[in-house]
Amino acid sequence: MANGLMTVSYIAAAILFILSLGGLSRQETARRGNFYGALGMAIAILATVIGAQVTGYALLIPAILVGAVAGWVLAVRVEMTQMPELVAVLHSFVGLAATLVGYSSYLDPNAHLVGAEKTIHEVEIFLGIFIGAVTFTGSIIAFGKLRGSISGKPLMLPARHWMNLTGLLVVFYLGSVFLGSEGTGGLTPLIVMTLIAFLFGIHLVMSIGGADMPVVVSMLNSYSGWAAAATGFMLSNDLLIVTGALVGSSGAILSYIMCRAMNRSFISVILGGFGTGGGTSSAAAPEGEVVAISAEETAQLLVDAKEVIIVPGYGMAVAQAQGVISEITKRLRAKGVKVRFGIHPVAGRLPGHMNVLLAEAKVPYDIVMEMDEINADFPETDAVLVVGANDIVNPSAQDDPGSPIAGMPVLEVWKAKTVVVFKRSMATGYAGVDNPLFFKENTRMLFGDAKKSVDGILAHIPS
Ligand code: TAP
Repeated sequence: MANGLMTVSYIAAAILFILSLGGLSRQETARRGNFYGALGMAIAILATVIGAQVTGYALLIPAILVGAVAGWVLAVRVEMTQMPELVAVLHSFVGLAATLVGYSSYLDPNAHLVGAEKTIHEVEIFLGIFIGAVTFTGSIIAFGKLRGSISGKPLMLPARHWMNLTGLLVVFYLGSVFLGSEGTGGLTPLIVMTLIAFLFGIHLVMSIGGADMPVVVSMLNSYSGWAAAATGFMLSNDLLIVTGALVGSSGAILSYIMCRAMNRSFISVILGGFGTGGGTSSAAAPEGEVVAISAEETAQLLVDAKEVIIVPGYGMAVAQAQGVISEITKRLRAKGVKVRFGIHPVAGRLPGHMNVLLAEAKVPYDIVMEMDEINADFPETDAVLVVGANDIVNPSAQDDPGSPIAGMPVLEVWKAKTVVVFKRSMATGYAGVDNPLFFKENTRMLFGDAKKSVDGILAHIPS
C-alpha cells in the first residue's frame, strides 16, 4: 500500500475513533458510536496488514483468524454482568502485547539507531515494557477479584507504601543502567525491571478492596492505552500513538468521574484499603422491624400513586427484570402516573450498566434520569421501587462517618412516602455493608427474585 493511502486510512481511523468516543457518551448515539469504533478499527487493521512494513503473512493471517474467532465467541457468550471481567482480561492482553513488542523492538537486529535517537527509542522501550507489565499482571488480578476467584479483601502488607517506593527507585536505577549499556547489553536490567513491574501490578491491585474495583478496571484501561501509545512510539506508528492516547485519557477521565461519584479521591483508591467488607463502622448493626409486602399490594400502591421513581441496581441485571419493568412503566404511564428512573453512576457492575439494560427494554430515554437530576425529587414522590439495588441507596453513606461507604453520594430514596425494596434476602450488597434503609418505617420489602416480583406486579396492573 502506498504511504499516502496509508496515512489517509490512519487519519480516517483516528477521526472515527474520536467520533466513536463522542457517540458513546450518550445513550441515544451509543450504537452509532460503537459502529464508528468498529469501522475505524477495521480500517486500521486492514491498512496496517497490507502496509509495506508487514511481510510475515503466513504467521499473521492465522493469528488474526484465531483472535477473531476467540473474540467473536467470547462476545456472544459473555453475560452483561461478566463484562468487567472480560474487559479486565482484554486489558491484560494489551499489557502483554506492549511488553513483548518492547522486547522484540530492543532485540531487533535491523535497528541501527545512534545518539539521541537511540536514547529516545530505549526510553520508549523501557517505559512501554514497564507500563505494559504492570497492566498485564494488574489486569489478571482484577479479573480474579471480579470473578471472585481471588478475595475482594485488600491485601494490606506491612510497610506496603515503602515497598512500592523502593521498587520504583530500583526501577529508576535499572533504567539508568539500561540506557548506559551498549548493544543488547541492557537485557539483564530490562528483565529485572519487568519482573519488578509484574510484582508491582500484582501488589497494586491486590491492595485494593472489592468496592473500588470499577475504578481499578477503568484505571487499568487507562494504563493499557498508555502502554499502546508507548508501543506506537516504539514502532513509529502514528495511529497507535493516537489510539493509545485516546484510550489512556478517556480511561483516566472515567476513573476520575467514578471517583467523584463515590466521593473518593483517586489517590486514596490507588493506595487501597477500601471495601474491606468488615468496615470500621461506628454504628451497630441496624435495628428495627422489617415489613414485607406482596406483589399485589405493591401493584395497588403504584396504581394509587401520582409520582413513582424506579431505582434499578445489580439485582435487576441478575434477574433480567428490565423487560417487565418497562411494561409496568408503560401501563402506569397510560393510567396517568408519572414514572421516572433514577440511575446511580455506579449502579450495577459497569459504567452505564443500567442505562444499557433499560435501553434494551425500550424504556424512553427522557424518563431515565441521572442521580443529580432526580435526587431532590424524592420527598415529593409517592412510591419508589428499589429493584435489586443496595449500596447505592444506603443512608449510612450519609449518616455514619465510620461506614466503609461514608461520603459516597447515594440516591435518597428514604425521603419518599413509601419505598419498596426488591431483593431475595437481607444480604448485603457489593461493598458488604449493612443497609438501615430496610428497617425504616416507610420501607417495605418485596422478597424474592426480582423477575418473579415484577411478573407478580404486572399481573395486577390491568393494561
Ligand atoms: P449491590 O449493592 O451489589 O446490591 C445488589 C442487590 O441486589 C443485592 O443486595 C442482592 O440482594 C440483590 N439481588 C441480587 N440478585 C437478585 C435477584 N435475582 N433478584 C432480586 N434481588 C437481587 O448493587 P447496587 O446497589 O447496584 O450497587 C453497585 C455496587 O457495585 C456498588 O457498591 C459499586 O461500587 C459496585 N460496583 C459498581 C461497578 C460499576 S462501575 N457500576 C462495578 C463494580 C462494582 P439479595 O442477595 O438479598 O437478593
